[in-house]
Amino acid sequence: MKAVEVAPKIYCVRANIGSRDLFEGIWPIPHGVSLNSYVVRGEKIALIDLVKDWEHAVDSITEQMASIGVTVSDIDYLIINHMEPDHTGWLAEMRKKNPEMEILCTKKAVPLVAAFYGIEEGVRAVGSGDTLDLGGITLQFEDTPNIHWPETMMTYEPASGTLFSCDGFGAFGQVGEHLFDDQLTEEEHEFFARETERYYANIVSTFSGFVEKGIRKLSSLEIRMIAPSHGVIWRKDPKKIIDHYQKLASYKIGPAEQEVTIVWSSMYGNTEQLLEHVIAGVASEGIPVHVHRVPQEHVSFVLASAWRSSGIIVGTPTYEYKMFPPMYAVLDIFERSHLLNRKTMRFGSYGWSGGAKKQYDEFLSAMKWDCIGAVEYQGAPSQEDKEQAYEMAKELARQVKAWK
Ligand code: FEO
Repeated sequence: MKAVEVAPKIYCVRANIGSRDLFEGIWPIPHGVSLNSYVVRGEKIALIDLVKDWEHAVDSITEQMASIGVTVSDIDYLIINHMEPDHTGWLAEMRKKNPEMEILCTKKAVPLVAAFYGIEEGVRAVGSGDTLDLGGITLQFEDTPNIHWPETMMTYEPASGTLFSCDGFGAFGQVGEHLFDDQLTEEEHEFFARETERYYANIVSTFSGFVEKGIRKLSSLEIRMIAPSHGVIWRKDPKKIIDHYQKLASYKIGPAEQEVTIVWSSMYGNTEQLLEHVIAGVASEGIPVHVHRVPQEHVSFVLASAWRSSGIIVGTPTYEYKMFPPMYAVLDIFERSHLLNRKTMRFGSYGWSGGAKKQYDEFLSAMKWDCIGAVEYQGAPSQEDKEQAYEMAKELARQVKAWK
């Protein structure tokens, strides 16, 4: 693969990671993920964002750099927008190969460079308003804390209006020959919209307030192209991905979409017996319903559909005086992701003792969910339980539809 010129003096070099690993050690990437770095070539040469040595990513980007006659030793400046190791993992090795290279990052990133890679020399702190003149092309920096870590910044090149946004405006999914938004087919646009939503829910959702703040701050820049470090480059319609992120961030406090996510578990089928009635209740109001069983389905996918849903229904049995453990793990992830202000109901079976309710109520309080009720029963559900579940799910769907 060759480096791709994205604007005069700016080249994308990238690696496509396959689906074997989990991203951040937790999130499945069945369609892979891309790691994008950018070479900016003035009289001096800068590399924006690095990779970790993951599925030959280093070989891949160095081979592409060679296609434009640039070697690791030629890099004068390494710009670290964000310290997470998917963008810095190869840093110590690179510094060994090029000891003269200066590292530019935010003040908050400086101690992290030392902590992660033992590098304390040749590191310069930069922040909003600072510029780097490469000779014939200039870069400027904008602090964008918490998109994704507190030390994060973005880099801007004014002549082309390119924003190097690192994790921000990124997506899961490998990027093939179609690197730019205007090259994508309609099907590929839909694919990346889905991969953007799951990436956002999994990686970024916790920081939605910072995303909104960051978008407001970046509005002072004339952005004509967004070049993230995961996903496609937006040169035709950068506003499309900004608006998508704005919308995803707004889901944090709701309302989200007029949709309902049902996440359920069952041990011996007694909780499962209510499922069809709950689904029918929601469907009777004509709104989309997403159904996920845990632990059979990974929380990554559950979170993605819960993030876009204004209504969430939880079906869980009691297990040893508490909530069924895999469901507890899902709600814990929801809470960490700041999945706030949803309409909800609960259903489930218990054996000799209840207990799921107490833990569920703690999550309700932490996430400020509006619970319209619960259908909980010992052993198998009665006909009355089934009818009550249908009516409660229908009412939940009505409230979701009415929530503007
Ligand atoms: Fe792509 Fe937060 O690292």
